[in-house]
Amino acid sequence: MSKSPSVSVVGPGALGCLFAGKLCKAGYRVHLIDYKHDRINRLSKSGIEIYKNGSVEKYNVHVTSHIPTGQELVIILVKSYATQNLILPPDAHILTLQNGLGNAEILCKKTHPDKILAGVTTEAATLMGEGKTKHTASGITTIGSWTVAPVEKAVEILESAGFSVEITHSPGQAIWEKTAINAGINPLTAILNVPNGALLKVREVRELLRELVIEAVKVAGTEGYRFPKSLVEMAEETCEKTADNISSMLQDIRAGKKTEIESISGEILRRGISAMLPTPRTRTIYQLVRGLEERANL
Ligand code: PAF
Repeated sequence: MSKSPSVSVVGPGALGCLFAGKLCKAGYRVHLIDYKHDRINRLSKSGIEIYKNGSVEKYNVHVTSHIPTGQELVIILVKSYATQNLILPPDAHILTLQNGLGNAEILCKKTHPDKILAGVTTEAATLMGEGKTKHTASGITTIGSWTVAPVEKAVEILESAGFSVEITHSPGQAIWEKTAINAGINPLTAILNVPNGALLKVREVRELLRELVIEAVKVAGTEGYRFPKSLVEMAEETCEKTADNISSMLQDIRAGKKTEIESISGEILRRGISAMLPTPRTRTIYQLVRGLEERANL
C-alpha cells in the first residue's frame, strides 16, 4: 500500500489548526510545525480540535519543530513577524497564506523563488485554547504562483480537504487587496477595543476607516496595482459581514501578544516613504498600535 502524501502546516494558530485538521481528515499525513517545544509536547498528546456548528472533531497530527523533507506542500500560516525565522526544505512547494505584505518576498530569499505560491484566505477561525480552533465562517482561498511555481497540486490538495479555492494570476494583487482592508479595520478595532461592526457606527471613525484604506490603495498604486472594485466599499462590507468578530489584531492586543502591525500599516508606511508618498493617517495609527503593544513597558 502506498503511503498517503505528506503536507506541512506551519503555525498552530486558529487558521493553522483549521488547515491541519481538515487536511488530516482528507487523509494526508499532516505535520503541524511549531517553534515552542513545550507546546509541541502538549499538542502531540492532546491533538487538535475543530469546533463548528456546535460539534467538535478531533485530529492527531504530528507536531514537530522542523518541516520534514518530502512534503507535497508546505502551508505557511505563522504570524508575519515570524516569517524571517523559518527554515524551509529546499525540495517543497511553499504556499504563504499569511497576513500582510512582504511574506512571499522573505520566503523567496529562503528557498528558490520558483517554489513559492502565495495568496490569501477568507476562512475565519478563532483560537479557543491551545490546539482548539472554532471555524466561524467558511471562505475562499485565493492562490497563485509568485513567479513560476505550478499551482495545480496545491489547488488539488486544498480542494480535496474541502476548501473553496480560486486561482489568481496576481497573488500580489490579492495580498494588497486584503492588506488594504486589514489596514483600515485591524488597527482601528485594536485602538478602540471594539468588534469590526462598531467601526461603521460613528461617522468620524467610519471616515478614518475609509481614509486608511485610501492611503493603502494609493501606495499599492505606486507598485502598479489597480483594483477593479472599491476597496473602501469592500472594507465597509467586511465590517458589516463580520460585525461581531474581534479582529485578529484586537485578539492579539487583548492577549498581550505582538500584533501584525509591522507587515500591515508599518509596511504600507515604509513603502509609501520609498515612493515619496506620505501616508499621515497610517503613520499615526501605526504609532498608536506600537504604543498599545508596548503599553506594559511605557
Ligand atoms: O484580521 C482579521 O481579523 C480579518 O482579516 C478581518 C477581515 C479584519 C476580520 O476580522
